[in-house]
Amino acid sequence: MIVLEDRKSLNDWVEQSRLRGGKVGFIPTMGALHEGHLSLVREARKSCSQTIVSIFVNPTQFGPGEDFDQYPRTFVEDKALLEDISCDAIFLPSPEVIYPPGGQTFITVEPLASQLCGASRPGHFQGVATVVTILLNLVRPHAAYFGVKDYQQLTLIKQMVRDLALAVEVVGVPIVREKDGLALSSRNRYLTTEERKQAAALYKALCTAKSLYKDGELRAKELEQAARGVLLESGIEQIDYVEVRDKEKLTSELTADDPVMLIAARVGKTRLIDNMVLST
Ligand code: PAJ
Repeated sequence: MIVLEDRKSLNDWVEQSRLRGGKVGFIPTMGALHEGHLSLVREARKSCSQTIVSIFVNPTQFGPGEDFDQYPRTFVEDKALLEDISCDAIFLPSPEVIYPPGGQTFITVEPLASQLCGASRPGHFQGVATVVTILLNLVRPHAAYFGVKDYQQLTLIKQMVRDLALAVEVVGVPIVREKDGLALSSRNRYLTTEERKQAAALYKALCTAKSLYKDGELRAKELEQAARGVLLESGIEQIDYVEVRDKEKLTSELTADDPVMLIAARVGKTRLIDNMVLST
């Protein structure tokens, strides 16, 4: 496995991989890798002859007062994990490699970016859309893999790729969970033992809504209230949102058959997100 740190060496690797034929699969990450990230790499390896993971804690998607400085940076462990699953390359750029001085261009995807997580994290999705576009342009993969865990992010990237006619296939990969249902996240390591126990309530709330939906409760407000009840019961009071949305467009008007429930809540100081498609 090769570690590429600048544009020139990345470009040489990309050219060689493309010359050899076959598909290049790309997995953008911010590192602190866990089974969720590794499942994206495994998925890429199924249909691509070369896989490349980027590790870049992107400053432009963190707001003031957010955890950019504390965000875990665990490159030695990340590299070992990727080596173990036969990833071919890591792109490990510095901020200057991604954002050379003097940049003036940002990508906005509206109104998708200003709702749900975007409402409490202004500028977050502009940072995500911009860095993903830059990374896609540098890596030029055939396919890029994103977790369903970040449902709004995945929806926004699909929209952006369509709108800008980017030549890449976007693949969504299912959520990897702990035994008690908590979705794996690099931020779970911030949780204390007590908070870690509480955090399982996000999954429980989603399952409650799913089971009500299955039993015929189709009213969004009722489903949201039931899920909120589960969170409150387990002591999670700082609820950012509990919303039932259209699973394709994320609008409040539900057009597709099966909507998605999305939750964001703070457990202690840690903001967690999760989601589940509700189906009959
Ligand atoms: P990061 O949080 O490191 O996540 C990288 C990818 O791993 C994302 O596509 C995310 O959805 C996926 N992922 C995280 N936890 C997962 C889980 N439990 N199951 C399945 N997939 C999971 O998302 C980002 O980084 C950044 O915003 C990025 C896209 C890299 C842009 O900076």
